[in-house]
Amino acid sequence: MKQIIALAGSNSKNSINKQLVEYASSLVDNVEVNLLDLNDFELPLYGIDFENEKGIPENAHKFLDLIKNSDGIMLSLAEHNGAYTVAFKNIFDWMSRIEGKTFYGKPMLLMATSPGGRGGASVLQIALDRFPRHDAQIIAHFSLPSFGSNFSEGKIINEELNNDLKAKVKQLQKAL
Ligand SMILES: Cc1cc2nc3c(=O)[nH]c(=O)nc-3n(C[C@H](O)[C@H](O)[C@H](O)COP(=O)(O)O)c2cc1C
Repeated sequence: MKQIIALAGSNSKNSINKQLVEYASSLVDNVEVNLLDLNDFELPLYGIDFENEKGIPENAHKFLDLIKNSDGIMLSLAEHNGAYTVAFKNIFDWMSRIEGKTFYGKPMLLMATSPGGRGGASVLQIALDRFPRHDAQIIAHFSLPSFGSNFSEGKIINEELNNDLKAKVKQLQKAL
């Protein structure tokens, strides 16, 4: 059976992006989902001095191996000040020091949500520009605006947005 990893680009215990990615991953059929949490991959803040003195921490290798051994990726990015959260940027930076082709050409559904009306559009755009340079194969992207109004009890309650996400999950599934 195909296996995907699903994660939020956030270290918040109550991450809305984690809730979204959990829901999105429940929509794929006959695929094993490995729901990951950045909190389980604690890492020091990336710094060249740390790297030169102590090398690359094991957790960066572990996470990269999970990407490498998966058939696809569902990622929902939280937006902090228009960009990646520190937690996501940190693990991304560490992994990119091991392997520049960080996403190994794996099919990816890239998402973002936020409480505001732009739904993480800025961080989504940053990732759409950047990830392909790291060998990401972005099959589709999806933004959920106004999380508080559009998501309830573990699912998207706005029909149009829900149908849009479902279609994009199908696209990912076909690409696995
Ligand atoms: C430091 C900080 C900066 C933020 N900047 C933005 C922002 O630029 N755009 C936005 O839509 N939301 C912003 N927010 C609100 C986040 O979208 C909100 O906290 C959301 O819950 C983060 O996603 P998460 O729950 O998955 O971690 C910011 C929140 C924090 C704490």
